[in-house]
Amino acid sequence: MERGNFGSKIGAVLASAGSAVGLGNIWRFPTECGSNGGAAFILIYLLCVFLLAMPVMIAEFVIGRASRSNTVGSYRVLAPGKPWVVSGFMGVAAGFLVLSFYSVVAGWTLDYTFESLTGGLMSETDFGAFFNDFVADPWHPAIFLLLFLLLTHCVVATGVEKGIERYSKIMMPMLLAIVLVLIGFSLTMPNAGIGIEFMLRPDFSKVTKDVILSAMGQAFFTLSVGIGTLATYASYFSKETRLVPSALSVCAIDTLVAVAAGFIIFPAVFSVGVDADSGPGLVFITLPYVFQEAFGSVPVLKYVFSGLFYLLLLLAALTSSISMHEICTAYIHETFRLSRRLSAAIVTCICFVMGVACSLSFGIWKDVTVMGMGFFDLFDFVTAKFLMPLGGLLICTFVGWDMNKKLVAGELDSTFTPLLMVLFSWVAPIGIGIIFIYGLMSN
Ligand code: PHE
Repeated sequence: MERGNFGSKIGAVLASAGSAVGLGNIWRFPTECGSNGGAAFILIYLLCVFLLAMPVMIAEFVIGRASRSNTVGSYRVLAPGKPWVVSGFMGVAAGFLVLSFYSVVAGWTLDYTFESLTGGLMSETDFGAFFNDFVADPWHPAIFLLLFLLLTHCVVATGVEKGIERYSKIMMPMLLAIVLVLIGFSLTMPNAGIGIEFMLRPDFSKVTKDVILSAMGQAFFTLSVGIGTLATYASYFSKETRLVPSALSVCAIDTLVAVAAGFIIFPAVFSVGVDADSGPGLVFITLPYVFQEAFGSVPVLKYVFSGLFYLLLLLAALTSSISMHEICTAYIHETFRLSRRLSAAIVTCICFVMGVACSLSFGIWKDVTVMGMGFFDLFDFVTAKFLMPLGGLLICTFVGWDMNKKLVAGELDSTFTPLLMVLFSWVAPIGIGIIFIYGLMSN
Protein backbone atom coordinates (compact mmCIF):
# COMPACT_ATOMS: atom_id res chain seq x y z
CA MET A 1 0.00 0.00 0.00
CA GLU A 2 1.28 3.46 -0.94
CA ARG A 3 2.21 5.33 2.28
CA GLY A 4 2.18 9.07 2.84
CA ASN A 5 5.31 10.94 3.91
CA PHE A 6 6.15 14.28 5.41
CA GLY A 7 7.66 16.24 2.55
CA SER A 8 10.17 18.17 4.67
CA LYS A 9 12.10 17.92 7.94
CA ILE A 10 10.57 21.14 9.23
CA GLY A 11 7.11 19.76 8.39
CA ALA A 12 7.88 16.64 10.45
CA VAL A 13 9.01 18.71 13.46
CA LEU A 14 6.11 21.15 13.21
CA ALA A 15 3.54 18.34 13.00
CA SER A 16 5.08 16.59 16.03
CA ALA A 17 5.31 19.87 17.95
CA GLY A 18 1.69 20.51 16.94
CA SER A 19 0.73 17.21 18.50
CA ALA A 20 2.59 18.07 21.69
CA VAL A 21 1.44 21.68 22.08
CA GLY A 22 -2.19 21.54 23.06
CA LEU A 23 -4.72 22.09 25.79
CA GLY A 24 -2.17 20.42 28.06
CA ASN A 25 0.14 23.42 27.71
CA ILE A 26 -2.28 26.30 27.83
CA TRP A 27 -5.11 24.95 29.94
CA ARG A 28 -3.43 22.44 32.24
CA PHE A 29 0.18 23.54 32.76
CA PRO A 30 -0.44 27.01 34.26
CA THR A 31 -3.03 25.61 36.66
CA GLU A 32 -0.77 22.78 37.80
CA CYS A 33 2.18 25.09 38.13
CA GLY A 34 0.20 27.71 40.05
CA SER A 35 -1.17 25.31 42.62
CA ASN A 36 1.86 23.02 42.97
CA GLY A 37 4.66 25.31 44.06
CA GLY A 38 5.55 27.45 40.99
CA ALA A 39 9.17 27.08 39.96
CA ALA A 40 9.58 24.03 42.22
CA PHE A 41 6.96 22.28 40.08
CA ILE A 42 8.61 23.51 36.88
CA LEU A 43 11.92 22.03 38.01
CA ILE A 44 10.47 18.58 38.73
CA TYR A 45 8.44 18.76 35.55
CA LEU A 46 11.59 19.48 33.51
CA LEU A 47 13.35 16.50 35.08
CA CYS A 48 10.38 14.30 34.13
CA VAL A 49 10.38 15.70 30.60
CA PHE A 50 14.06 15.07 29.96
CA LEU A 51 14.57 11.83 31.90
CA LEU A 52 11.29 10.03 31.29
CA ALA A 53 9.06 11.51 28.61
CA MET A 54 11.71 12.48 26.07
CA PRO A 55 13.25 8.98 26.03
CA VAL A 56 9.76 7.61 25.30
CA MET A 57 9.40 10.16 22.50
CA ILE A 58 12.72 9.13 20.96
CA ALA A 59 11.82 5.43 21.37
CA GLU A 60 8.52 6.09 19.57
CA PHE A 61 10.38 7.86 16.77
CA VAL A 62 12.70 4.85 16.45
CA ILE A 63 9.83 2.34 16.32
CA GLY A 64 7.82 4.41 13.85
CA ARG A 65 10.55 5.15 11.39
CA ALA A 66 12.14 1.70 11.51
CA SER A 67 8.81 -0.02 10.83
CA ARG A 68 7.09 2.50 8.55
CA SER A 69 3.79 1.27 9.86
CA ASN A 70 0.92 2.28 12.14
CA THR A 71 1.33 1.67 15.84
CA VAL A 72 -0.06 -1.90 15.82
CA GLY A 73 1.60 -2.84 12.54
CA SER A 74 4.97 -1.57 13.76
CA TYR A 75 5.27 -4.38 16.34
CA ARG A 76 4.18 -6.92 13.74
CA VAL A 77 7.06 -5.72 11.55
CA LEU A 78 9.70 -5.36 14.26
CA ALA A 79 8.80 -8.21 16.62
CA PRO A 80 6.59 -10.67 14.74
CA GLY A 81 4.78 -13.18 16.90
CA LYS A 82 5.80 -11.48 20.15
CA PRO A 83 3.31 -9.99 22.62
CA TRP A 84 4.60 -6.37 22.19
CA VAL A 85 1.74 -5.83 19.77
CA VAL A 86 -0.51 -5.43 22.84
CA SER A 87 1.19 -2.07 23.37
CA GLY A 88 0.09 -1.09 19.84
CA PHE A 89 -3.52 -2.05 20.53
CA MET A 90 -3.43 -0.09 23.79
CA GLY A 91 -2.26 2.92 21.80
CA VAL A 92 -5.15 2.71 19.35
CA ALA A 93 -7.65 2.28 22.20
CA ALA A 94 -6.09 5.27 23.98
CA GLY A 95 -6.25 7.29 20.75
CA PHE A 96 -10.04 6.80 20.58
CA LEU A 97 -10.53 7.58 24.27
CA VAL A 98 -8.31 10.67 24.38
CA LEU A 99 -9.78 12.11 21.20
CA SER A 100 -13.29 11.65 22.59
CA PHE A 101 -12.88 13.59 25.81
CA TYR A 102 -10.32 16.05 24.44
CA SER A 103 -12.72 17.07 21.68
CA VAL A 104 -15.34 17.96 24.28
CA VAL A 105 -13.06 20.61 25.81
CA ALA A 106 -11.90 21.61 22.33
CA GLY A 107 -15.58 22.03 21.40
CA TRP A 108 -16.03 24.42 24.35
CA THR A 109 -12.99 26.29 23.06
CA LEU A 110 -14.52 26.52 19.60
CA ASP A 111 -17.69 27.96 21.10
CA TYR A 112 -15.72 30.47 23.20
CA THR A 113 -13.69 31.54 20.16
CA PHE A 114 -16.87 32.10 18.24
CA GLU A 115 -18.58 33.92 21.12
CA SER A 116 -15.48 36.09 21.64
CA LEU A 117 -15.12 37.07 18.02
CA THR A 118 -18.82 37.91 17.69
CA GLY A 119 -18.81 39.91 20.92
CA GLY A 120 -21.25 37.64 22.76
CA LEU A 121 -18.84 36.46 25.45
CA MET A 122 -17.75 39.88 26.62
CA SER A 123 -21.35 41.05 27.05
CA GLU A 124 -21.97 38.38 29.71
CA THR A 125 -21.95 39.36 33.38
CA ASP A 126 -21.79 36.02 35.22
CA PHE A 127 -19.17 33.81 33.53
CA GLY A 128 -19.51 31.02 36.10
CA ALA A 129 -23.22 30.61 35.35
CA PHE A 130 -22.57 31.03 31.62
CA PHE A 131 -20.00 28.21 31.60
CA ASN A 132 -21.95 25.86 33.87
CA ASP A 133 -25.18 26.29 31.89
CA PHE A 134 -23.31 25.78 28.65
CA VAL A 135 -21.55 22.54 29.58
CA ALA A 136 -24.67 21.07 31.20
CA ASP A 137 -26.80 21.63 28.09
CA PRO A 138 -27.31 18.40 26.12
CA TRP A 139 -27.23 19.96 22.64
CA HIS A 140 -25.07 23.04 22.47
CA PRO A 141 -21.71 21.44 23.47
CA ALA A 142 -22.51 18.37 21.35
CA ILE A 143 -22.89 20.56 18.26
CA PHE A 144 -19.53 22.22 18.90
CA LEU A 145 -17.99 18.82 19.59
CA LEU A 146 -19.21 17.69 16.19
CA LEU A 147 -17.93 20.84 14.47
CA PHE A 148 -14.53 20.40 16.06
CA LEU A 149 -14.35 16.71 15.11
CA LEU A 150 -15.29 17.62 11.55
CA LEU A 151 -12.45 20.15 11.38
CA THR A 152 -10.05 17.45 12.61
CA HIS A 153 -11.55 14.95 10.21
CA CYS A 154 -11.10 17.18 7.16
CA VAL A 155 -7.38 17.63 7.84
CA VAL A 156 -6.71 13.94 8.51
CA ALA A 157 -8.81 12.69 5.59
CA THR A 158 -6.83 14.93 3.21
CA GLY A 159 -3.66 12.97 3.87
CA VAL A 160 -0.26 13.20 5.52
CA GLU A 161 1.52 15.75 3.34
CA LYS A 162 -1.44 17.68 1.94
CA GLY A 163 -3.43 17.60 5.18
CA ILE A 164 -1.45 17.14 8.39
CA GLU A 165 1.83 18.66 7.23
CA ARG A 166 0.32 21.55 5.29
CA TYR A 167 -2.00 22.63 8.09
CA SER A 168 0.69 22.20 10.77
CA LYS A 169 2.92 24.51 8.75
CA ILE A 170 0.14 27.12 8.74
CA MET A 171 -1.24 26.67 12.24
CA MET A 172 1.97 26.34 14.28
CA PRO A 173 3.51 29.66 13.18
CA MET A 174 0.10 31.34 13.73
CA LEU A 175 -0.04 29.83 17.19
CA LEU A 176 3.47 31.01 18.05
CA ALA A 177 2.70 34.51 16.75
CA ILE A 178 -0.45 34.72 18.89
CA VAL A 179 1.56 33.59 21.92
CA LEU A 180 4.00 36.46 21.37
CA VAL A 181 1.28 39.07 20.91
CA LEU A 182 -0.53 37.91 24.05
CA ILE A 183 2.67 37.90 26.12
CA GLY A 184 3.24 41.48 24.98
CA PHE A 185 -0.27 42.43 26.15
CA SER A 186 0.05 40.61 29.46
CA LEU A 187 3.46 41.84 30.47
CA THR A 188 2.47 45.46 30.03
CA MET A 189 -0.49 45.17 32.39
CA PRO A 190 -0.27 46.82 35.81
CA ASN A 191 1.06 44.43 38.49
CA ALA A 192 2.27 41.96 35.85
CA GLY A 193 5.39 41.42 37.98
CA ILE A 194 3.35 39.91 40.83
CA GLY A 195 1.96 37.28 38.45
CA ILE A 196 5.41 36.39 37.15
CA GLU A 197 6.69 36.15 40.70
CA PHE A 198 3.78 33.90 41.67
CA MET A 199 4.68 31.54 38.86
CA LEU A 200 8.43 31.60 39.28
CA ARG A 201 8.82 31.69 43.07
CA PRO A 202 9.92 28.17 44.02
CA ASP A 203 7.86 26.91 46.93
CA PHE A 204 9.45 23.61 47.86
CA SER A 205 7.12 23.18 50.83
CA LYS A 206 4.36 22.29 48.36
CA VAL A 207 6.34 19.48 46.76
CA THR A 208 4.73 16.26 47.92
CA LYS A 209 4.55 12.80 46.38
CA ASP A 210 1.34 13.86 44.64
CA VAL A 211 3.05 16.87 43.09
CA ILE A 212 5.78 14.63 41.68
CA LEU A 213 3.12 12.36 40.24
CA SER A 214 1.29 15.31 38.71
CA ALA A 215 4.51 16.57 37.16
CA MET A 216 5.14 13.20 35.54
CA GLY A 217 1.55 12.88 34.33
CA GLN A 218 1.74 16.39 32.90
CA ALA A 219 5.04 15.59 31.12
CA PHE A 220 3.54 12.54 29.42
CA PHE A 221 0.29 14.17 28.45
CA THR A 222 1.83 17.36 27.16
CA LEU A 223 4.39 15.55 25.01
CA SER A 224 1.73 13.16 23.62
CA VAL A 225 3.87 10.14 24.46
CA GLY A 226 3.05 6.58 25.45
CA ILE A 227 0.24 5.78 23.03
CA GLY A 228 2.02 5.66 19.69
CA THR A 229 1.04 9.13 18.44
CA LEU A 230 4.60 10.07 17.66
CA ALA A 231 5.47 6.57 16.44
CA THR A 232 2.68 7.00 13.87
CA TYR A 233 4.01 10.41 12.84
CA ALA A 234 7.59 9.10 12.71
CA SER A 235 6.48 6.39 10.30
CA TYR A 236 6.06 9.27 7.83
CA PHE A 237 9.50 10.84 8.56
CA SER A 238 12.04 10.71 5.76
CA LYS A 239 15.45 9.06 6.24
CA GLU A 240 17.05 12.51 6.45
CA THR A 241 15.10 13.53 9.54
CA ARG A 242 17.43 13.32 12.57
CA LEU A 243 15.46 11.75 15.38
CA VAL A 244 17.32 13.03 18.45
CA PRO A 245 17.55 16.71 17.43
CA SER A 246 13.91 16.57 16.28
CA ALA A 247 12.81 15.23 19.67
CA LEU A 248 14.82 17.93 21.42
CA SER A 249 13.17 20.61 19.27
CA VAL A 250 9.70 19.25 20.00
CA CYS A 251 10.38 19.16 23.77
CA ALA A 252 11.84 22.67 23.67
CA ILE A 253 8.90 24.13 21.72
CA ASP A 254 6.40 22.39 23.98
CA THR A 255 8.08 23.60 27.18
CA LEU A 256 8.45 27.15 25.88
CA VAL A 257 4.77 27.33 24.98
CA ALA A 258 3.76 25.97 28.39
CA VAL A 259 5.87 28.54 30.22
CA ALA A 260 4.68 31.26 27.82
CA ALA A 261 1.07 30.32 28.60
CA GLY A 262 1.89 30.95 32.28
CA PHE A 263 3.39 34.32 31.33
CA ILE A 264 0.17 35.19 29.52
CA ILE A 265 -2.26 34.02 32.16
CA PHE A 266 -0.71 34.92 35.53
CA PRO A 267 0.23 38.56 34.91
CA ALA A 268 -3.29 39.13 33.55
CA VAL A 269 -4.92 37.33 36.47
CA PHE A 270 -2.90 39.23 39.06
CA SER A 271 -3.31 42.57 37.43
CA VAL A 272 -7.06 42.17 37.92
CA GLY A 273 -6.71 40.57 41.32
CA VAL A 274 -8.79 37.39 40.96
CA ASP A 275 -7.93 34.05 42.53
CA ALA A 276 -5.20 32.30 40.51
CA ASP A 277 -5.84 28.92 42.10
CA SER A 278 -9.20 28.38 40.54
CA GLY A 279 -8.45 25.03 38.90
CA PRO A 280 -9.72 23.93 35.50
CA GLY A 281 -12.26 26.77 35.46
CA LEU A 282 -9.31 29.20 35.14
CA VAL A 283 -9.51 29.37 31.38
CA PHE A 284 -13.28 29.34 30.90
CA ILE A 285 -14.52 31.22 33.97
CA THR A 286 -11.71 33.30 35.49
CA LEU A 287 -10.06 34.54 32.30
CA PRO A 288 -13.17 36.09 30.75
CA TYR A 289 -13.50 38.22 33.93
CA VAL A 290 -9.86 39.16 33.53
CA PHE A 291 -10.35 40.23 29.90
CA GLN A 292 -13.40 42.25 30.84
CA GLU A 293 -11.79 44.00 33.79
CA ALA A 294 -8.36 44.55 32.33
CA PHE A 295 -9.54 46.30 29.21
CA GLY A 296 -12.61 48.01 30.62
CA SER A 297 -11.36 51.42 29.50
CA VAL A 298 -10.54 50.39 25.91
CA PRO A 299 -13.37 47.97 25.09
CA VAL A 300 -12.06 46.92 21.69
CA LEU A 301 -8.99 45.41 23.35
CA LYS A 302 -11.03 42.95 25.37
CA TYR A 303 -12.51 41.54 22.17
CA VAL A 304 -9.08 41.34 20.60
CA PHE A 305 -7.44 39.72 23.63
CA SER A 306 -10.20 37.21 24.33
CA GLY A 307 -10.64 36.40 20.63
CA LEU A 308 -6.92 35.80 20.17
CA PHE A 309 -6.65 33.79 23.37
CA TYR A 310 -9.42 31.33 22.50
CA LEU A 311 -8.20 31.12 18.93
CA LEU A 312 -4.78 30.16 20.32
CA LEU A 313 -6.39 27.46 22.44
CA LEU A 314 -8.38 26.24 19.47
CA LEU A 315 -5.35 25.99 17.15
CA ALA A 316 -3.38 24.19 19.84
CA ALA A 317 -6.22 21.72 20.41
CA LEU A 318 -6.68 21.12 16.71
CA THR A 319 -3.06 20.25 15.92
CA SER A 320 -3.16 17.77 18.83
CA SER A 321 -6.51 16.19 17.98
CA ILE A 322 -5.27 15.63 14.42
CA SER A 323 -2.46 13.47 15.80
CA MET A 324 -4.80 11.43 18.00
CA HIS A 325 -7.12 10.90 15.05
CA GLU A 326 -4.18 9.83 12.90
CA ILE A 327 -3.21 6.97 15.29
CA CYS A 328 -6.66 5.43 14.77
CA THR A 329 -7.08 6.33 11.09
CA ALA A 330 -3.66 4.92 10.13
CA TYR A 331 -4.46 1.70 11.98
CA ILE A 332 -7.84 1.17 10.27
CA HIS A 333 -6.55 2.30 6.87
CA GLU A 334 -3.56 -0.07 6.87
CA THR A 335 -5.08 -3.03 8.70
CA PHE A 336 -8.43 -3.30 6.97
CA ARG A 337 -7.22 -1.82 3.69
CA LEU A 338 -10.03 0.73 3.59
CA SER A 339 -9.51 4.08 1.90
CA ARG A 340 -8.05 6.84 4.05
CA ARG A 341 -11.27 8.86 3.80
CA LEU A 342 -13.48 5.99 4.91
CA SER A 343 -11.09 5.07 7.74
CA ALA A 344 -11.10 8.68 8.94
CA ALA A 345 -14.91 8.79 8.75
CA ILE A 346 -15.19 5.67 10.91
CA VAL A 347 -12.89 7.21 13.55
CA THR A 348 -14.81 10.50 13.52
CA CYS A 349 -18.18 8.73 13.98
CA ILE A 350 -16.97 6.53 16.85
CA CYS A 351 -15.33 9.48 18.62
CA PHE A 352 -18.44 11.58 18.17
CA VAL A 353 -20.61 8.97 19.90
CA MET A 354 -18.09 8.52 22.75
CA GLY A 355 -17.57 12.30 22.94
CA VAL A 356 -21.32 12.87 23.36
CA ALA A 357 -21.26 10.44 26.29
CA CYS A 358 -18.41 12.50 27.84
CA SER A 359 -20.21 15.75 27.17
CA LEU A 360 -23.46 14.51 28.73
CA SER A 361 -21.56 13.57 31.88
CA PHE A 362 -21.50 17.31 32.68
CA GLY A 363 -25.29 17.46 32.45
CA ILE A 364 -28.08 14.92 32.19
CA TRP A 365 -25.74 11.92 32.62
CA LYS A 366 -24.06 13.35 35.69
CA ASP A 367 -25.24 10.38 37.72
CA VAL A 368 -24.27 7.71 35.21
CA THR A 369 -20.97 6.46 36.60
CA VAL A 370 -18.52 3.63 36.09
CA MET A 371 -16.08 3.00 38.97
CA GLY A 372 -17.49 6.16 40.57
CA MET A 373 -16.63 8.37 37.58
CA GLY A 374 -18.65 9.95 34.77
CA PHE A 375 -17.55 9.14 31.21
CA PHE A 376 -15.37 12.26 30.86
CA ASP A 377 -13.43 11.57 34.06
CA LEU A 378 -13.31 7.86 33.33
CA PHE A 379 -11.75 8.31 29.87
CA ASP A 380 -9.31 10.85 31.30
CA PHE A 381 -8.37 8.49 34.14
CA VAL A 382 -7.96 5.39 31.97
CA THR A 383 -5.68 7.18 29.51
CA ALA A 384 -3.62 9.52 31.70
CA LYS A 385 -3.20 7.24 34.70
CA PHE A 386 -3.16 3.86 32.99
CA LEU A 387 -2.66 3.60 29.22
CA MET A 388 -0.10 6.40 28.77
CA PRO A 389 2.35 5.38 31.52
CA LEU A 390 1.98 1.67 30.83
CA GLY A 391 2.40 2.29 27.10
CA GLY A 392 5.48 4.46 27.74
CA LEU A 393 7.00 1.76 29.90
CA LEU A 394 6.45 -0.92 27.26
CA ILE A 395 7.75 1.28 24.43
CA CYS A 396 11.02 2.08 26.24
CA THR A 397 11.48 -1.49 27.39
CA PHE A 398 10.94 -2.78 23.87
CA VAL A 399 13.50 -0.44 22.33
CA GLY A 400 15.96 -0.84 25.22
CA TRP A 401 15.85 -4.61 25.52
CA ASP A 402 14.23 -6.42 22.65
CA MET A 403 14.57 -4.43 19.44
CA ASN A 404 17.53 -5.16 17.20
CA LYS A 405 20.42 -3.06 18.60
CA LYS A 406 21.93 -2.26 15.20
CA LEU A 407 18.59 -1.08 13.89
CA VAL A 408 18.10 1.15 16.94
CA ALA A 409 21.62 2.60 16.66
CA GLY A 410 21.12 3.20 12.93
CA GLU A 411 17.87 5.06 13.53
CA LEU A 412 19.32 7.11 16.39
CA ASP A 413 22.50 7.96 14.51
CA SER A 414 23.69 10.04 17.45
CA THR A 415 26.75 10.43 19.66
CA PHE A 416 24.38 10.10 22.61
CA THR A 417 23.33 6.56 21.68
CA PRO A 418 24.97 4.86 24.74
CA LEU A 419 23.35 7.39 27.10
CA LEU A 420 20.00 6.98 25.37
CA MET A 421 20.23 3.21 25.69
CA VAL A 422 20.66 3.59 29.47
CA LEU A 423 17.61 5.86 29.55
CA PHE A 424 15.53 3.39 27.48
CA SER A 425 16.62 0.30 29.37
CA TRP A 426 16.80 1.51 32.96
CA VAL A 427 15.98 5.08 33.89
CA ALA A 428 12.69 5.50 32.03
CA PRO A 429 11.16 2.06 32.75
CA ILE A 430 12.01 2.25 36.45
CA GLY A 431 10.91 5.89 36.82
CA ILE A 432 7.69 5.32 34.90
CA GLY A 433 7.05 2.05 36.74
CA ILE A 434 7.14 3.94 40.02
CA ILE A 435 4.67 6.62 38.83
CA PHE A 436 2.42 4.02 37.40
CA ILE A 437 2.17 2.02 40.60
CA TYR A 438 1.85 5.08 42.85
CA GLY A 439 -0.67 6.61 40.46
CA LEU A 440 -2.88 3.55 40.64
CA MET A 441 -2.48 3.19 44.39
CA SER A 442 -3.40 6.80 45.08
CA ASN A 443 -6.78 6.36 43.36
N1 PHE B 1 -0.08 16.73 23.98
C1 PHE B 1 -1.42 17.14 23.87
C2 PHE B 1 -1.66 18.37 24.74
O1 PHE B 1 -0.78 18.83 25.40
C3 PHE B 1 -2.38 16.05 24.21
C4 PHE B 1 -2.18 14.74 23.51
C5 PHE B 1 -2.16 13.58 24.24
C6 PHE B 1 -2.07 14.68 22.13
C7 PHE B 1 -1.97 12.36 23.61
C8 PHE B 1 -1.90 13.45 21.48
C9 PHE B 1 -1.86 12.30 22.25
O2 PHE B 1 -2.72 18.88 24.80
